[in-house]
Amino acid sequence: MKLIQHKIFLLGFMGCGKSTLGKKLANKLGFQFFDLDKCIEEKVQMSITDIFKTKGEEQFRKLESDELINILNSNDNYVVALGGGAPCFNENMDLINNSGTSIYLKYNEGILASRLINAKAERPLIVNKTKEELIDFIAKLLKEREQYYLKSKLVIEGTNITVNEVTDLLF
Ligand code: S3P
Repeated sequence: MKLIQHKIFLLGFMGCGKSTLGKKLANKLGFQFFDLDKCIEEKVQMSITDIFKTKGEEQFRKLESDELINILNSNDNYVVALGGGAPCFNENMDLINNSGTSIYLKYNEGILASRLINAKAERPLIVNKTKEELIDFIAKLLKEREQYYLKSKLVIEGTNITVNEVTDLLF
């Protein structure tokens, strides 16, 4: 039996690099990696875009919370890349903080907009937005969401965060 379980949750707005960093971090630590969006897609056998189109956002949020709980029940050491909205619905942020180490990858709306402008296609909330609309949309939503994001145990801000920086802060 493992005496200490490490569960690491990467969270933050769309485009902050949760999945890229999460994969590298899990690889370096020898932990399992979960991408919450990918887990939902596999479960429902539909893309996130199609889930939003056919079932709507409310149903997506239910699937997202259910899948998060499935991951929380896993006994392995793991790193999870959460979808941008996951911490902000139901009791998810409290469940996360009661289970392991949450890390908020914090960027401002300008940086997020430039990172997202070429990665809108698979993100139903922003797919039709121009760069200007995107900046306003991100600023507004970030303001609502930061009350959840900022409950994270660690906040890493504003640079291209590396795996070594994260492990130095964690262990
Ligand atoms: C969403 C973020 C997306 C995905 C869905 C909704 C959000 O994940 O879960 O499109 O509400 O911010 P990423 O943060 O990985 O893009």
